[in-house]
This record gives sequence, C-alpha cells and structure tokens, in this order.
Amino acid sequence: VLQASSSSLRPSATVSAIELADIDWDNLGFGLQPTDYMYFMKCDQGGTFTKGQLKRFGNIELNPSAGVLNYGQGLFEGLKAYRKEDGNILLFRPEENALRMKMGAERMCMPSPSVEQFVEAVKDTVLANKRWIPPQGKGSLYIRPLLMGSGAVLGLAPAPEYTFLIYVSPVGNYFKEGLAPINLIVESELHRATPGGTGGVKTIGNYAAVLKAQSAAKAKGYSDVLYLDCVHKRYLEEVSSCNIFVVKNELHHLMFWYCTCKISMAASWPMGNVISTPSIKGTILPGITRKSIIDVARSQGFEVEERLVSVDELVEADEVFCTGTAVVVSPVGSVTYHGKKVSYGDGIGAVSQQLYTVLTRLQMGLAEDNMNWTVEL
Ligand code: COI
Repeated sequence: VLQASSSSLRPSATVSAIELADIDWDNLGFGLQPTDYMYFMKCDQGGTFTKGQLKRFGNIELNPSAGVLNYGQGLFEGLKAYRKEDGNILLFRPEENALRMKMGAERMCMPSPSVEQFVEAVKDTVLANKRWIPPQGKGSLYIRPLLMGSGAVLGLAPAPEYTFLIYVSPVGNYFKEGLAPINLIVESELHRATPGGTGGVKTIGNYAAVLKAQSAAKAKGYSDVLYLDCVHKRYLEEVSSCNIFVVKNELHHLMFWYCTCKISMAASWPMGNVISTPSIKGTILPGITRKSIIDVARSQGFEVEERLVSVDELVEADEVFCTGTAVVVSPVGSVTYHGKKVSYGDGIGAVSQQLYTVLTRLQMGLAEDNMNWTVEL
C-alpha cells in the first residue's frame, strides 16, 4: 500500500536570486525572479486539503515516482497582483482562477482546494512577498498556483497524495516585443488539443505539447504559433500561451459589397467594429482575460461574437490581438499562413488599444471597478 507520506516536498537551498535593490524595474521581462516565500498545502487520502503554510522559496523534493512526474497529473494557474497608486495591492479575479482549477482538477482526477482556500492562499502568498510587487505601471506580481499529484504511483492511476503550491515572481511584458505587435505563424500540422482531450483545462501537458511548434516558429523569427482545430484544420483555436481575437470593421465589408454588387448601401449604413473569438468548446482554454475582455468590449459598445472563426477571416481582419494573464492584451502585427503573410500594421490598433487601456486601468486601480473584479489587500 502506498503511503500518503511516500512523497515529501521540502524547500531546500534557495535558488540564487538577485536582490530586490538590484532589480531594473524599467526592464522587467517575463522570467523567474525568486522571491521570499512560497505556499504549501497537502491533501490527505480522503481528498481534503489541510491548512497550508508559507515556507521560504526554494527547491522542492519529490518522490521519483510522483504522479506529476510520471503521468503528468498536474495543473497550473496564473494571475496577477498590482500595486495601486496609494501602495495598496489589487488582485484580479482570483476566484475565477480557483474555479478554473477546480474544473481542471475534476478532469484530471485530482482533488482541489476550495475557492476560499485558494483565494486565502493567494492573499497570504502575495502579502508575504509584498516587497516584490513592482511599482505601479512597471509590471505586476505574477502568481503561479500549482496542483500536482505528489504521491508515488507506478501503475497508471491517480496519485495517492496531492500538493497545492503557489510561488510568485515580479514580471513585465511577456513578449520580447513589449507592447509592439507580435508576429504569428499558423500551424496546421501539429495540434494543441483534440476534442475530448484536455485542451480546455490548464493542465501542464498542454504546454509541453506546444513547445516543438513554438521552438520551430521562434527559430524562424516568429513570436509564437497560432493553432488550428485538428478536425477541419481550418478554425482558429488559440496561441501557445493565450487566446486570440479578430476585429473586423464592418465598413470594409459593406464597401466590398458596394464595389462588387453595385449596391449603394455603404454611405448610410451603421458601421462598427465586430470582435470575434473562437468559442469555448473543450479544446480552447477558457481564459480569464479572454472572458474579461469580452465583457469590457461589450461594455464599451462593441459587438462581440464567440463562434467558429475561420483562418480565412485573418485575411479580411482589421486588427488581431491576443489575451492572457501573462500577455494581457497583445497586438498582432502579422499572421503567416501557408507562406502568405497578412499584416495589420506596425502599431497597436485602435480597438486593441482601447480594450488594453480599459482593462489595465481597472487592474491597477486607476478606474472605478464597477464589475467588482478586483480584490484589495
Ligand atoms: C498565463 O497567461 O498565465 C499563462 O498561463 C500562460 C503561460 C504559458 C505563461
């Protein structure tokens, strides 16, 4: 019988870190900066998580037979803490991450912390590492909760023990381009997810699966990869680390009609931007920034459609942008598909800029939070 104690997780030597005073806050990228504390909570055989604790940040020890190492039984989350102008701290929608982890845990046969346990653990970890939160406007504290099968298991089965862990790192822009538009390549052979698979949950294996295409794309000078559905190889899914949105100004559409059909309707027709994003159907990660941007866009008067978005629509699009906790709202400058490059301009488009501004002002406490999305510490 495998014992619940068969795996032990103990912080050991602290990973070498540069000191807080040495951080160049103006040039934070998206790399790990070790901080002071991490959070640990284990669950018992009955699947109940017991009271967690903060420990000094450092390496952990795992049984070589741990479920997460052998069979990929692991999930992660990503959320951010921001420093307000008055020095207080804001978390952005932490309960959404807790709920998504619960949903993922169910798919991966794992117990998960309750929403309250998750949110309290996030708060404790952020407060313990408060000095690492960048000054306002210079970045944020990225919070990375993990849930893993830490118990030893050799035959394929759910692990007998689970560990919930949170670590944090100050971060700036995710892409090396900063806020400048990124260049994507569409991948139609390698797929990120399959119907009935785990593409819709934040399991660690989804991210290992994209490394090959991502490395190849980066070697060719692209910023990242845009995946297509694996059945029709035609509909947009998502980028390796973020969701995708396509903006179409209906003016262009109507003018096309005008030119080809000689129907005089463009001049007086009500025009506007329609924002489309692939719908959540099991193969796409239900991004919390994706969901927030949909709500922000609608509140700003945009029409938003969640639907199948064909790769062909990229040719007609006026703007394309990505959303994610790490990438926030990242403009796409070009998409290359089967050797053909479609460009959307050198700068951020007006719609992407508007949505970026509204969202980030809310996250940093610079705008009133009518949505009740932020949690102040
Ligand atoms: C996030 O945006 O939080 C993610 O999980 C993406 C990750 C690959 C950095």
